[in-house]
Amino acid sequence: MKTAHRQVIIAGNWKMNKTSKEAAALTEQILAGVKSLSANAKNLPEIILCPAYTSLATVGPLLKGTGVKLGAQNMDWRNEGAFTGEISPLMLLDLKTNYVLIGHSERRHLFGETNATTNLRLKAALAHGLKPILCVGEMIDERENELTDAVVGRQVGAGLTDIDPAQFSQVTIAYEPVWAIGTGKTCEAKEANRVCSVIRKTVASLYARYSGNGHKFDAADMPILYGGSVKASNIAEQLKQEHIDGSLVGGASLNAEEFLAIIKAGADRVKHNLAAAAH
Ligand code: 13P
Repeated sequence: MKTAHRQVIIAGNWKMNKTSKEAAALTEQILAGVKSLSANAKNLPEIILCPAYTSLATVGPLLKGTGVKLGAQNMDWRNEGAFTGEISPLMLLDLKTNYVLIGHSERRHLFGETNATTNLRLKAALAHGLKPILCVGEMIDERENELTDAVVGRQVGAGLTDIDPAQFSQVTIAYEPVWAIGTGKTCEAKEANRVCSVIRKTVASLYARYSGNGHKFDAADMPILYGGSVKASNIAEQLKQEHIDGSLVGGASLNAEEFLAIIKAGADRVKHNLAAAAH
């Protein structure tokens, strides 16, 4: 079964929260919990912490040798220049950042980022060896007007426009319906799974278009995450779904106990995948 090969990912997006001292304390709590979950990293999901830019330099060194990865919440696509307030890929690399969120809905809707700049950011991330997590999701009126699949398909298509076919394997996509973010309303697991399967099909057709169907990458191998009011109490149902390979967690990732329970659910999914692969 194809699902068995996919990486399970649990990422915490801390958004504009935590001073660096608070971020260090939270990181230590999470690391202690992760250590007690399993001595063998093979049994754990890929865990990513995305603190604010100001805490990357503090959190990064704490993660060294733990297997837990460092992510940034955004990035400009240019290397340097007169772009007041922006952060470049070189600056993230300098801090040993592994992942970067691209096109988060708060960036799109509160700060005017477009599909076009999302594509520039994503391509710059790939060019620098940073792993992009492309965030997509519909607004409530788009869902009510049955535009979900069209909006999400467009965001995926635009975000991945003209990327080198060899780099598809470096991309993760997070489906985060805007109406579910920070609202306590989760997208029902089966519906989230359906949208994630639409995303997977879109990725497959984009890859076929760019690669001339070289068959080197299979969209069935791309991790697709769900985000939007994920909590310890609803994660298990989400991770039972065929096309949901993990979570991008906001609010609940600010609480070590809650986030560790989510990581534990991710580890259960890893166990399930390993068992399925053995058959
Ligand atoms: P919440 O988990 O707080 O709804 O946020 C989700 C999110 O935006 C993660 O990127």
